[in-house]
Amino acid sequence: MNAVTDLRRAVARTPLAPIAAFPTRVARVARHDARVVGASVRWLFTSREHHNYTYDLTTLNRTHLAWYVAQVCDVPVASVRGWFEELEGDAVLRDHIEAATAASARRGLADRSVRYGRRIGWYAMLRARRPGLVVETGTDKGLGTCVLAAALLRNAAEGHPGRVVSMDINPDAGYLAKAQPWSSVAELLPGDSVASLAALAGPVDVFLHDSDHTGAHERAEFAAVEPRLAPGALLLTDNVTSTNVLARHAEATGRRFLAFTERPARHWYPGDGIGAAW
Ligand SMILES: C[S@@+](CC[C@H](N)C(=O)[O-])C[C@H]1O[C@@H](n2cnc3c(N)ncnc32)[C@H](O)[C@@H]1O
Repeated sequence: MNAVTDLRRAVARTPLAPIAAFPTRVARVARHDARVVGASVRWLFTSREHHNYTYDLTTLNRTHLAWYVAQVCDVPVASVRGWFEELEGDAVLRDHIEAATAASARRGLADRSVRYGRRIGWYAMLRARRPGLVVETGTDKGLGTCVLAAALLRNAAEGHPGRVVSMDINPDAGYLAKAQPWSSVAELLPGDSVASLAALAGPVDVFLHDSDHTGAHERAEFAAVEPRLAPGALLLTDNVTSTNVLARHAEATGRRFLAFTERPARHWYPGDGIGAAW
């Protein structure tokens, strides 16, 4: 055993080291790639989604998200975990999303099972902050809008009413958010988000960028919403794994900034994230 170790150490010190290590390196990367290919093939045959993928977070990633929200919102991590469970245990919301997805014109391109991913973080942030006005850019099916509305309904039941305005350039967006009780606190605003923000009456307590994910559009949204923000507003971006736009905006406006990166469970997609400035 010691002789083998000694030989390995001796080889590691020679110019042959890269060649000797090559089979081990091939085996490591092959194991990793086999996992990715396995998840990809499984997904191709079990999912119908072609964009805005849904998935659960790994258990560890969910734990890290709870700590992330606790830091951003300055609340105990146990409260955040409680809010995650509150959303995940909301059977009325889950049943509605399943039924509305199954009945929608886009059901051929949507999965029936409900998976919130990073949106559990959005939910907890709204439960912690109890905002009066939330703006989400990019509605798509309305999954995020429903999650935000569900948090606002719970806040209202505790005496802190609020509403969410969700903007999308696609006039057909948001079918999940058109049902009661979520629609009672969710307004869908069709049109380009930058134009809609310019016409919006504030003050906005929480702003979430999740529309056109080019850096230029994200920047234009933060510039448009800045004059409409309430003091101490929370700015969120869904684009944090792709651009540095919100971090730069935070620095320019004297805010703090923190990023969270998703780790999807049983999915090939590397995940998105949450960027927060406050
Ligand atoms: C990633 S999806 C939004 C996902 C949604 N927030 C959720 O939680 O599932 C992006 C959406 O942004 C919309 N979009 C793209 N460009 C836009 C623009 N200039 N203004 C408003 N919405 C836009 C698209 O139509 C699409 O529905």
